[in-house]
Amino acid sequence: MNERLVTPDTVQEDIETLSLRPTRLADYIGQDHVKEMMDIFIRAARQRKESLDHVLLYGPPGLGKTTLANIVAHETGVKIKVTSGPSIEKSGDLAVLLTSLEPGDILFIDEIHRLPRVVEEVLYPAMEDFALDIIVGKEETSRALRVDLPPFTLIGATTRFGDLSAPLRDRFGVVHKLEYYDQEALEKICARTARIYEAEIDKASIVEIALRSRGTPRIVNRLFRRIRDFADVLNDGMITLDITRLALDKLAIDPLGLDPMDYDYLYGLINKFGGGPVGVESLASAIAEEVSTLEDVYEPFLLKLGFIQRTPRGRVATEKAYRHLKVPHQGGLFE
Ligand code: ADE
Repeated sequence: MNERLVTPDTVQEDIETLSLRPTRLADYIGQDHVKEMMDIFIRAARQRKESLDHVLLYGPPGLGKTTLANIVAHETGVKIKVTSGPSIEKSGDLAVLLTSLEPGDILFIDEIHRLPRVVEEVLYPAMEDFALDIIVGKEETSRALRVDLPPFTLIGATTRFGDLSAPLRDRFGVVHKLEYYDQEALEKICARTARIYEAEIDKASIVEIALRSRGTPRIVNRLFRRIRDFADVLNDGMITLDITRLALDKLAIDPLGLDPMDYDYLYGLINKFGGGPVGVESLASAIAEEVSTLEDVYEPFLLKLGFIQRTPRGRVATEKAYRHLKVPHQGGLFE
């Protein structure tokens, strides 16, 4: 499988990204609406010395859900425990986490849509009543015991809002969708990253990196690091437009920010299925990818570009996609 710029970070990159992550809301660029709302809720909770209501953040990967959770912890002066849906296998695992929290702490569950159902059921009373219902004893002699938990804030993050069960969704008092960033915000993020790395970069390069980052800060930072490698080796560390374009071309990032995996998707759809409509399962198997990767990672940006459509009969490549790939369009649905 190809390496992709929006796949989960490697450990080394995690360490690097950590230092790039803003810790204050005021330093968080973009997502103005979310920021404004979170600022009010954080301040209200602080004023009342209460824990913040549970927060659900959703949207495509790399847009800053984890960063925002960490900022909330920092701004409210509480500790944050970070875990993820797939890593909590048994209800006991969650019980251990919940009972280790101190009053006001944040429990961050990434990929919360992947929590097993039995674990999710432990979460309901925990979220609603700060209580843990445990069963003690065996069979006929078993009984339910309720254990109090300290008040805490659950921050859940997901790329798939629709996969959350309604009872779980309904227990979040604050729900925000993170949107793709606009060009101006991406440029600011790139300039900030360059400042943190103390790298020399010109304005044209910042614009170019932002243009090719698919509206995603994580991609800004990854592209920046790769381009800096080229600049260090070939240009005394100076990031100029020539170096930036050279690096991006070598990385096979096209002018819209599409990478080889997007091309696999689009060529698969066009060459193997005549541009669709085709079911996502068939497409995934034709290009040897997982359905969830297509749905969570490739498709949101291709949809945003208007290169594909999701129809009841399956995925369809639009004329715009054909034009971008310079593949003749046979007509059909769009003519
Ligand atoms: N780094 C990653 N996301 C960011 C954001 N939204 N603001 C500032 N720096 C970031």
